[in-house]
Parts: sequence; C-alpha cells; structure tokens
Amino acid sequence: MATFSSIGDSTDPGFGVYVHWPFCAAKCPYCDFNSHVRHQPVDQPRFVSAFLTEMAEARRLSGPRTVTSIFMGGGTPSLMDPATVEAVLNGIAKFWHVPDGIEITMEANPSSVEATRFHGYRAAGVNRVSLGVQALNDRDLKFLGRLHNVEDALKAIGLARDIFPRMSFDLIYARPNQTVEAWEQELKQAVSYAVDHLSLYQLTIEEGTPFYGLHKAGKLVVPDGEQSAVLYEATQDITAGIGMPAYEVSNHAAPGAESRHNLTYWRYGDYAGIGPGAHGRLTMGSSKIATATERKPEEWLRLVEEQGHGMIDQEILGLDEQADELLLMGLRLKEGIDLVRWQSLSGREPDPDREQFLIEHGFIERLGNSRLRCTPAGMLILDAVVADLAC
Ligand SMILES: C[S@@+](CC[C@H](N)C(=O)[O-])C[C@H]1O[C@@H](n2cnc3c(N)ncnc32)[C@H](O)[C@@H]1O
Ligand code: SF4
Repeated sequence: MATFSSIGDSTDPGFGVYVHWPFCAAKCPYCDFNSHVRHQPVDQPRFVSAFLTEMAEARRLSGPRTVTSIFMGGGTPSLMDPATVEAVLNGIAKFWHVPDGIEITMEANPSSVEATRFHGYRAAGVNRVSLGVQALNDRDLKFLGRLHNVEDALKAIGLARDIFPRMSFDLIYARPNQTVEAWEQELKQAVSYAVDHLSLYQLTIEEGTPFYGLHKAGKLVVPDGEQSAVLYEATQDITAGIGMPAYEVSNHAAPGAESRHNLTYWRYGDYAGIGPGAHGRLTMGSSKIATATERKPEEWLRLVEEQGHGMIDQEILGLDEQADELLLMGLRLKEGIDLVRWQSLSGREPDPDREQFLIEHGFIERLGNSRLRCTPAGMLILDAVVADLAC
C-alpha cells in the first residue's frame, strides 16, 4: 500500500505525465471519451515514435521536472503491446527525471486482459492497474455495451490483484431502473473484491452518444436528482463503512491508497498531456499554460510527424482563470482547497456574503483558517457551489 508521503500533500501537487491511447475494441454507447474503433491493426511503433516526439515538445515547455506519477489512459491502453508500454515509459524517462517507485497506472478493460499481457505490463514498469469493470451483473454489462461478462471481470480483478502492487476498478451506477437495494448489494459485493481503491461513477448522459439520443427520445430513463442523491449517499455510507471513504466525488480509497496522479489534477498541479486529445497544464514562470492536442488519431499522427507535436491549442491562463480552475478541481476533494493559494491567484478573499450563505446552508465549511471544503451536502450540488464562489 502507498504511504502518505508517496501521495504528497496539497502544498506539493506534483508533476504527472498522461499518455492517451485512443483506441477501443468497441465503442460503449454512454462514452464520450476520445476513443475510436479501428478494423485494421494499429501501427504501434509509429505511435510510440510520435509519443516520444510530442514528449520532446512537452519537455521544452515544462523544463526539467521530476515526475511524481505516470498514467496511461484511454481508450483502452490494455490494447497496447507490453513492448509499446515499455517504450513509452522509457521515453518519459529520457525527457524527465523519473524516480524509482513512482505510481505508474494503466487503465485496462477486463475483455482485453490476459495473464501474459499483465505480466508484460508489470515487467515494463506498470505498478497500478485501473480496471473498467462497470457492473457486476451480466444484464447491465450487456446494456452498457461491454464486451466482458461478470466472469471475465472477476478473472481480471484476480489477475490484477496477483500481478500488480496496486489496483483499482471502476463501476458505473445510477443505471436505468437501478434500485438502491440492488446497488447496495452490488457495491457490497464489489468492495469484497476491492483492495484499497474504487472509482464509482454515476452514469452521465453525454451529448452525442447513443445513450443521449435514447434519453432524449424518452427510451432511456435514468434516476432523477432525488433518486441519484439516495444512490450517492448509499455509496458514501458503504465505502466509508469499510474504511475506503470518498476522497473525491467519485473516488474512494483507504488512507494512503489515493491515486497520486489524479490528486495532482485535483490539487491543480502540473501535468504533461501526450497523445491524441490529451490536455496538459504546465507552469512557466508565473504563468500556467493549458495545452490541448488534436483528437483524431491519424490527424494527430500527421501533425506530430510534420510539426513535431500534435498540439492545436496552447493558452496562457490568467491568474483569474487559474484561481477558477483551482476551485473547480479542488472542491471535488474531501480535503478541499488551500485558501492562501487560491487568494494568491485570485487576489481576493471569498465573497463574505456568499461564503456565509453557503456555510449556513451546510454546503461548505472552513477547516481552520486556511482550508475550505464542500460538505457531503455541498458535493451533491458541487457545480452550483463552485459557480457561487468563483464569481
Ligand atoms: C476513460 S474510461 C477508460 C476505461 C476503460 N476504457 C474501460 O471502459 O474499461 C474511464 C471510466 O470512465 C467511466 N465512464 C465513462 N463514461 C461514463 C459515463 N458516461 N458515465 C459514467 N461513467 C463513465 C467508466 O467507469 C470508465 O471505466
Ligand atoms: S468506456 Fe472505455 S471501453 Fe468503452 S468506449 Fe469508453 S474508453 Fe472505450
């Protein structure tokens, strides 16, 4: 298990490297991540070479840094050959200082998992796996368009537990017709398979997805706000009850087992975003730049090969924008935000009337003089709380 020192603290948000693998074996009907299905084999060495080219540009922007975590996300990174993963990790170490033992996570789908590949990823340096289990009943897995069944999921969980020092898995709840009793039962089963970290997401109907069309046509009904709140609260109670409370809106861990990489995002640290559709935040002097790359994989490859990177946007964020982003990310965390840091960016105190109103209604609270956080009730209306404090 990770120690507290290895996950840093909010005054040291760290520097993460994110690498995006943009391909999946099939597109899930709820998903709006940058993931694409290709019926021809993907030229993995060509992607490796492009990743390394883009890393050189990110290194030019970031300057020398010590990496505190690496995350290979997707898409389905477990469609990468172990040799591809190894080459990507070796590439990162060419551009930045990568201390031994830092968290190196890879997302994996239960359907694309075999023991030999897992051993290969482990040998390449991956020490944490995040599995997209999504549901623990076959009917809902089918409804979610997944290629795996419960048996595959349990096999993948078992392998991940045996092979990697750390593992987590994702579930999606607030599915159509899901009762709180059914979810409680499924979650209790899930926690019995978990090691020390779980990501539990409420189903979001994303614009442009097949689920969005069905939802608009009234053919897919998800739990309403009140029912979602009941499901959310049951989730908090069960995970807290087994010592894996939420440390972020959707993420639950035993103390010390939090995802170091995701903490860097939420604590508004820096990260290099490599690959199609990846985002980055890099501090340069007193500025922070936001980078975004081309989303379409083949177009991204073309850009990288022609101009040395696939970045289509590099925006210098003003102090106000940085303060807003810090608030937006930091209030997702149970530890909340460091007010001194927020004030040094925004140049002001939180509006006293708004703050008082939110405190009196039980949505936020102060932790000593220097931290502000959402209460569990505030987490349920997080967007409104952020909007209130930001303006
Ligand atoms: C980028 S996906 C990658 C994981 C991997 N490709 C998989 O699906 O197994 C990360 C996670 O986001 C969650 N997710 C994606 N779309 C979602 C949605 N519309 N609503 C809720 N959760 C979603 C799923 O739990 C998924 O495992
Ligand atoms: S949920 Fe995962 S497997 Fe499904 S399309 Fe999205 S990224 Fe691919």
